[in-house]
Amino acid sequence: MSERSEGAATGDDPQENQRAYRAAVVAFAAAIVGGVVAAIAYSTDDTDVWLGVGLAVALGGIGFGLVSWAKYLDFDEHVVQQREPLTMTETERDALHEELTTLPANSTTTFRRRRLLTRLLGGSLFSLVVGFVGPLGSLGPKPRGERNRTGWSNGVRLVTSEGQPIERATGGFDQLVTVFPEGQIGRDDSQVVLLRVSPELLTERTVEAGSIDGWVAYSKICTHAGCSVGLFGIDTRPPDVLRQLVCPCHQSVFDPVDGARPVTGPATRSLPQLPLRVDADGYLAAADDFDRPVGPPTWDEG
Ligand code: FES
Repeated sequence: MSERSEGAATGDDPQENQRAYRAAVVAFAAAIVGGVVAAIAYSTDDTDVWLGVGLAVALGGIGFGLVSWAKYLDFDEHVVQQREPLTMTETERDALHEELTTLPANSTTTFRRRRLLTRLLGGSLFSLVVGFVGPLGSLGPKPRGERNRTGWSNGVRLVTSEGQPIERATGGFDQLVTVFPEGQIGRDDSQVVLLRVSPELLTERTVEAGSIDGWVAYSKICTHAGCSVGLFGIDTRPPDVLRQLVCPCHQSVFDPVDGARPVTGPATRSLPQLPLRVDADGYLAAADDFDRPVGPPTWDEG
């Protein structure tokens, strides 16, 4: 029979053997916790810290646990196994039976430990799979063409974040409001800044692109890096009065009376303009979707 048995094989140093066993148990248990943490972090959108920490602990725990288990098994030991006779005498059979039915206490312990380590390893691998389900599921097909469509189409009313439609005749000049397609409040790709200026200020191309009585509507998503263009200001310093839509992230400035073309800052493209119309009840509505994708050009690369 083999001279080596699990756990007992490192007999040179039983304490080291015990430490290796405990390290394997702790590492596998930590791996299970790590996988669960990663899964919870992904499901709660906390993907900046805890997802990474959880997956790291899960992977590291499994690796460390396997190494510790190998040390516990003491794979470095040289083992010589004698070939056993192929037949047994009656006496030998009885002796073997006696041996198997009266296993020493340390053998029972060894079997229990092996079962525990096997279950912990299985649990940690399962936990790792659970932790990776979310991130791997996010590696779906690259979206193509979706950004050419938003929640806007002909006849869809503009409503505020409270759901209020905008009457054509209401509102003073130079006031900015964020609006969404009716029934889709909060939809990211469809957020629009709506502004009313004195109609004679608008350039011809701005009017042709779909302005109504001085109302103009532009995508709120900055064409530089996708922040919200949420600031409106009027520069009254002579010689001109300048109206400005400003993105607070990197101070890109757009001209709302001239198709929201970029004036200063890192943005190089105009904000897409939403063509407007008035519906039968006198409320502002979209005449169509944007004429081009919203957001920065980098969103189209890849
Ligand atoms: S994201 Fe708007 S200026 Fe950079």
